[in-house]
Amino acid sequence: MKRISDSGYWIAHQAGTDSGKALVMDRIRITGGNELNGVIPISGAKNAALPLMIAALLTSETLTLENVPHLADVEQLIRILGNHGVDYSVNGRRRSQGKGYSRTIHFTAGNIVDTTAPYELVSRMRASFWVIGPLVARMGTAKVSLPGGCAIGTRPVDLFIDGLRALGAEIDIESGYVTANAKAGLRGARFVFPKVSVGATHVLMMAASLARGETVLENAAREPEVVNLADCLNAMGAKISGAGSPTITIEGVEKLGGAQIEVIPDRIETGTYAMAVAMTGGDVLLEGARADLLHAALGKIAEAGAEITETDTGIRVRRNGNGIRPVDVVTEPYPGFPTDLQAQFMALMTRANGDSHITETIFENRFMHVQELARLGAEISLSGQTATVHGVDELEGAQVMATDLRASVSLVIAGLAAKGVTEVNRVYHLDRGFERLEEKLTGCGAMIERVSD
Ligand code: EPZ
Repeated sequence: MKRISDSGYWIAHQAGTDSGKALVMDRIRITGGNELNGVIPISGAKNAALPLMIAALLTSETLTLENVPHLADVEQLIRILGNHGVDYSVNGRRRSQGKGYSRTIHFTAGNIVDTTAPYELVSRMRASFWVIGPLVARMGTAKVSLPGGCAIGTRPVDLFIDGLRALGAEIDIESGYVTANAKAGLRGARFVFPKVSVGATHVLMMAASLARGETVLENAAREPEVVNLADCLNAMGAKISGAGSPTITIEGVEKLGGAQIEVIPDRIETGTYAMAVAMTGGDVLLEGARADLLHAALGKIAEAGAEITETDTGIRVRRNGNGIRPVDVVTEPYPGFPTDLQAQFMALMTRANGDSHITETIFENRFMHVQELARLGAEISLSGQTATVHGVDELEGAQVMATDLRASVSLVIAGLAAKGVTEVNRVYHLDRGFERLEEKLTGCGAMIERVSD
């Protein structure tokens, strides 16, 4: 197992190392007030790359992924996959781009050497729990640590367990580990998700690809990342139809092979930068972005007063002079407004000409950014799952920090429009999900830098 050496990212999560401490202490310093003008290249989607990487466990042949973003979560998953025996090699950096941009990575799980995913690895990233699906489907057994607590809510795993049981796996939960056994292989079944879950849809789709017979998943997640995974599995020889709709049908096959597939552009990164431009004013081309992946969010940004145009090369976002209009949003599973853009939209609404209401329906505790936005002068009150944002004329720079990556980037957006200097601490959250954030924003005129003590 090789380690990508041009990134120190994952070391940030290794408690006790000096370099880890240094990275944990890094912060982003923003001097607000500049408009954004220019081009921002949109990276491959983190939340598509992760399940695609995990799909490599399903075959002994090589799975090649193009446009994989260079992020701490990707590095962490590479380590987790390495623990199971997945080898990888990297090439194909985009021309004219420097170190640390999206790459082509070849993953080969020739031999699965370990079917256990230990606590030390799984506890750092919830998506690593998803290895349970391919491991039990290919090897007949898997033992995976429960993912543990999370800053945005309790996030249980009951849907994964019920779904794998429906496919014939015996499941035991003991000492913080979930063990799945299906010595005679999984068998197709009909499973109705009582609640839409992106991760459980990914896992059951992967597991059912190698099950005997037909599986029908009802009330499945419709996110573009699910479609990207289904396309990948089909390229590997699976027989999946209906991905992107609530009903997915999977005809199990005996074996999957290698394939080559591109990671879709990151719709959350796209929406985040679009909101940043709506916030600061200016004119930015989000290069490589696909409007069809985020209609709901782009619609809300346009309602707020930005001009959004699809071009041949991406999405152009402009806001000139006019103020920001207050707009209500409710987060919903795709194709609704994504929970992963809720914090950023709230940042935008802090400067609106009036009151807006933001309701979070996916995670019960995803308002950790409210208090931090208040430190910048925002006026927000919370009642249950709804935040009422009273727009103010001006935000003022301050020291802030956040406990998850989308909340962190919402503070960056607010800082770009605030008067004076904002420092966002705990930068490692941003490194988990935003490739070259400072570089992309600086390129458009923002005053933003990473500082270490
Ligand atoms: C994915 O998480 C994303 N992560 C999240 O992005 C995103 O916020 C979320 O989907 C919703 O869109 C990745 O793709 C890696 P879920 P996931 O299962 O799959 C409940 C980010 O910032 N639930 O769709 O874990 C759960 O608690 C991250 O990039 C159960 O009750 O989310 C939540 O309320 C954060 N039981 C709801 O379903 C289960 O067994 C939706 O969660 C599973 C989930």
